[in-house]
Amino acid sequence: MMVPANDIDMQLRRRAQSVIPGGMWGHQHVQRLPEGYPQYFTRGEGCRTWDANGRSYIDYLCAWGPMILGYNDPDVEEAAARQRIEGDGLNGPTPLLVDLAELVVETVPHADWALFSKNGTDATTACVTIARAGTGRRKILIARGAYHGAIPWCSPSVVGVTEEDRAHLIIYDYNDIASLDAAVTEAGADLAGILVSAFKHDVGKEHVLPTREFAARARELATNANAALIVDDVRAGFRLDLGGSWELVGVRPDLSAWSKAIANGHALAAVTGNDRFREAATRIFTTGSFWTAGVSMAASIATITKLRETGAVAHMQAMGRRLREGLQKQADQLGFKLHQSGPSQMPVFLFEGDDDRRIGNRFCLEALERGVYFHPVHTMFLSAAHTAAIIDETLEVTAEALRATANAIDHEGMRATGS
Ligand SMILES: Cc1ncc(COP(=O)(O)O)c(C=O)c1O
Repeated sequence: MMVPANDIDMQLRRRAQSVIPGGMWGHQHVQRLPEGYPQYFTRGEGCRTWDANGRSYIDYLCAWGPMILGYNDPDVEEAAARQRIEGDGLNGPTPLLVDLAELVVETVPHADWALFSKNGTDATTACVTIARAGTGRRKILIARGAYHGAIPWCSPSVVGVTEEDRAHLIIYDYNDIASLDAAVTEAGADLAGILVSAFKHDVGKEHVLPTREFAARARELATNANAALIVDDVRAGFRLDLGGSWELVGVRPDLSAWSKAIANGHALAAVTGNDRFREAATRIFTTGSFWTAGVSMAASIATITKLRETGAVAHMQAMGRRLREGLQKQADQLGFKLHQSGPSQMPVFLFEGDDDRRIGNRFCLEALERGVYFHPVHTMFLSAAHTAAIIDETLEVTAEALRATANAIDHEGMRATGS
């Protein structure tokens, strides 16, 4: 089939088929989305993003989380540009490494030290390695369905993965104290660490915050066993609480993994830890060619400083609430059983009884066509650039998108019964 000359996105997909396996890899493959979503993007500004065909959207994915201040934030980009002129990758770190580590340690209460890498997977993997080094034990407890990265020990796919890669993982159910207790018992004297997500944010499922009881029990079990409590704050870090997401439930981990939002879109990850695991973090060998690059560290310092100075977390939360309340009213009026879950600044929208995703996909597509980018199953993200006016503009779109969804479903329903 001929691709129209102005459909640049489709042309790129065609070209990609011959030089990129499957046309795209991993979770950003547009095949995972309802047909009609763009694969390629060319730019972002504030809370808006532009696809390769030149269409713009109010964006609720924020590049899968990193854009916490908004795309192209002037303060972050100015700091990054200044460092880029001086140099990015050099023979060793720039002085910004120490400045950033000091800022992170000052911002995150459980942190006595920090080390930096690039991707969230680097950070979660380093946490697990440090926990094992610091305890001399092997077993790591992880929650069923939780995502911690894309390498063999934690990949959601088993393709190319051996049993040995995961030999020392024990599964528990998030927020289920009895199952956590049982997993600790199973690990016995070999327990190295309990790994928890900031909250339960599995794809396609309702998002659930940790209960205080569960968080306290995880802390108690790790402490009693002299093992590490590890929070994977890669997705939620700095959106719920600048001190770390489990500050909200009054629990401090031994180790935390961070990435996504810590440098407002520049590639950076961090591990923070307390003094109990400082010596272990000194002993493990962890590094990467780009891990000390200066530009992302300049961006991170500017990001954290701005987040601290502007009350961004409270703003995102309030904007998320405005969206949630407006959308719920619209859905209720049309008789949709819409379940919005997760923190308001990191929502997921699911429709009751929508196992085949017919309703959710249609709603997201109708919104997309009207200039709002939602994700039908993944955690979404608000940024500090989502203002009240933007939320209200979004709600005008969702009102129409929900009406169009209702009409389409009624219409399809009629066709299904042959009337
Ligand atoms: C909770 C969590 N942990 C780890 C990761 C892995 O991060 P990255 O994709 O940067 O390696 C992600 C990525 O989405 C995540 O959401």
